[in-house]
Amino acid sequence: MMTMMMMVVATMVTCSSLFLLGLAAAHVSSSTVTRTSSSASSSSSSSSSSSSSTSPRMKLSYKELQQFHGVRRFELERSCCFSALLLDEERGRLFVGAKNFLLSLSLDNIAKQEHKIYWPAPVDWREECNWAGKDITSDCVNYVKIVHHYNRTHLYACGTGAFHPTCAFVEVGHRMEDHVFRIDPSEVEDGKGKSPYDPRHNAASVLVGNCDELYAGVATDLMGRDFTIFRSLGKRPSIRTEQHDSRWLNEPKFVGSFWVPESENPDDDKVFFFFRETAVEAQGLGKSTYSRIGQLCRNDMGGQRSLVNKWTTFLKTRLICSVPGADGSDTYFDELRDVFLLQTRDRKNPLVYTVFSTSSSVFKGSAVCLYSMNDIRRAFLGPFAHKEGPNYQWVPFQGKVPYPRPGMCPSKTFGSFESTKGFPDDVIQFARHHPLMYNPVYPMSRRPIFIRTNVDYSFTQIAVDRVNAADGQYDVMFIGTDKGTVLKVISVPKESWNNMEELLLEELEVFKNKACFKCFSLLALFSQQQLYVGSDTGLAQIPLHRCSVYGKACAECCLARDPYCAWDGTSCTRYLPNTKRRFRRQDVRNGDPNTLCSGDHHKHRIAEKKLYGVEGSSTFLECVPKSLQARITWTFQKHPQNRREEVRLDDRILQTDRGLLIRRVLKRDIGIYQCHAMEHGFTQTLLGITLELVPSTPSFVSNLPSDAPVRLDPRSGGGPPMTNQKLWYRDFMQLVDHPNLNTVDQICEQVWARRNTGGDQVGKDIAPLRPAVRPPNKKWKHLQEIRKGRNRRTHDGKPNPRAPRSAGE
Ligand SMILES: *[C@@H]1O[C@H](CO)[C@@H](O)[C@H](O)[C@H]1NC(C)=O
Repeated sequence: MMTMMMMVVATMVTCSSLFLLGLAAAHVSSSTVTRTSSSASSSSSSSSSSSSSTSPRMKLSYKELQQFHGVRRFELERSCCFSALLLDEERGRLFVGAKNFLLSLSLDNIAKQEHKIYWPAPVDWREECNWAGKDITSDCVNYVKIVHHYNRTHLYACGTGAFHPTCAFVEVGHRMEDHVFRIDPSEVEDGKGKSPYDPRHNAASVLVGNCDELYAGVATDLMGRDFTIFRSLGKRPSIRTEQHDSRWLNEPKFVGSFWVPESENPDDDKVFFFFRETAVEAQGLGKSTYSRIGQLCRNDMGGQRSLVNKWTTFLKTRLICSVPGADGSDTYFDELRDVFLLQTRDRKNPLVYTVFSTSSSVFKGSAVCLYSMNDIRRAFLGPFAHKEGPNYQWVPFQGKVPYPRPGMCPSKTFGSFESTKGFPDDVIQFARHHPLMYNPVYPMSRRPIFIRTNVDYSFTQIAVDRVNAADGQYDVMFIGTDKGTVLKVISVPKESWNNMEELLLEELEVFKNKACFKCFSLLALFSQQQLYVGSDTGLAQIPLHRCSVYGKACAECCLARDPYCAWDGTSCTRYLPNTKRRFRRQDVRNGDPNTLCSGDHHKHRIAEKKLYGVEGSSTFLECVPKSLQARITWTFQKHPQNRREEVRLDDRILQTDRGLLIRRVLKRDIGIYQCHAMEHGFTQTLLGITLELVPSTPSFVSNLPSDAPVRLDPRSGGGPPMTNQKLWYRDFMQLVDHPNLNTVDQICEQVWARRNTGGDQVGKDIAPLRPAVRPPNKKWKHLQEIRKGRNRRTHDGKPNPRAPRSAGE
């Protein structure tokens, strides 16, 4: 059965200098996934003990990003599915493959200076596609899924072409000024084995070498049954994987593909494929998905008598990303979603960052796992997985492995064979029957570096930036989710490198369409501090950091622990390691403002506010910390000279997420309140509020009907408890729901307005407060004046000149 997996991935590692200039990676995947049956290995569905539920430190909404943080957007009418991204720093362009279009956007601002090529599928292909039972509007069109740099003047792009894969050379000129962006119709060619047929299918490809060989993991038939890893273009022969052999590939979903040199000798170069597939070694235990890494040699020419035009160096093994469960057995994140290779100084040893999600319907979660090339190479040098016959188990192969060992590239470095065509028959036969390694690859330090469980989203993409901070290097992970958000995460060593602390610095709502059917967010990271994200509805460009958002104080900047940001003496700004500034402070590892910000002569001034409460009425002291991880405490002092004491919370004084609610203000409540944020062992004062009291006269209280605030607390005696409880609850909810009602006027006005528009179930109780029979009370008059002042539509005339002034005026 064809799976409904809708993840589509086109990962691009570009050739030559472009790779060195920037981190170029583009990924697409959609979130619509049909769950395969729970794998045997992940049958322990117990939630892991290391599951984390901490919230992000900062959460920026779509609106906030749009209004204050320089997010740029690109959308295109009658197109969608901006799935393939390619960065071109030299030309300053972002090339994008989308539905029926190939785009060239400005890297500085994707919303400006677009060039586009309309590239639809020909009408006869569309009709053919439609006859084959596909949908004419959603399937039988050209989705451009692959865009690579080809040579100095051309890109190579491929699309689904209405289930008729097609590729083209795209002329982009030598320089940006050339303003060339076109497809020469004579340079359009068959895209079979390069682009998927089905818009929902996965493909991973890489163009390597002298910009001439394309390696693609893709389905090569209309029905999406024959999957292959295929080499095309260039001078080397076209080579594919063995057909109809489930040991080689078994319903794979390709995720990424990379070219990695193994020595100084190009003959040792390897191409790696990342995918997930139905595990052949777990058959009999139900259908399980395993994540894989596969390798092959660039100089593989296929076999001579056997495996002709097939890979002779293809090997694969399992990638494990798991956590120990509560019951001792491991819980697996078994579905690989994306891979990002972080280049290090050693070109041969990039760090392999991956994101996984679970296929289990019981245990839902996502994880980031990090692998080293050394561990990957070790697995390929380990024992081969072997199965004697249909009724045997998979075991490590114990016999004599022929020479040269399958998986080794023919080269002078490791042997004397010049070509795979010269490999002895026993080597070819062994390679054909043993593509699978017995040992899996475990992540570094054997566990994920970042986990989310029990959240309403899954990770789908990752891009990683290595950032130099004052106290060392940090790998900042940008993780895309199927909810349209991007998480910014770092992992900081606590005491040792084996004990890491994961910090979720930001959660950015890049796309709004949370409920969209196949939204994929996609990432590309760039040396110019920009992140480019694609979805089915559009593209977004976001700066990597927003230092000023952390606050105006040294402590706030320090507590943020963002490797991109430092306190420069006056504000929180971008940290650049090689610029010397006297007051610059940064401490990502400890985030300790006590040591970092002491003697900060640019002292942070505490905001001061005045608030009036009506005696016996409720009032709300609002204080929302910038950091969602801060714990708020409130202190109180009667007079500035008094000692500060912690506010005692009880039924009357409640602390909410957004501030302090005093349900019934008493005389003794007046004084100075301070709101303190405690985070990471450091306390800072955010706000001082001086509460003053507007007295309510005794007559007011005695004349009040049964729902008077003073008697809202059922335990304060009097009043019919049932109705009052209900009313009190409503007041409370109102205050919590409307945290901006931070003045007593507004609060009272709200209550007042509600009463006047009454006529509801509590109508009888509030009758005495209706305008006609309003008690002759000064305070209420005053409040009404305010109301009139704000609402000129009130019918009964001018403000009363003798209206009493409130105590604070
Ligand atoms: C790049 O490749 C295209 C397509 O094969 C070719 O027409 C063009 O001349 C090449 N450009 C360079 C600079 O080699």
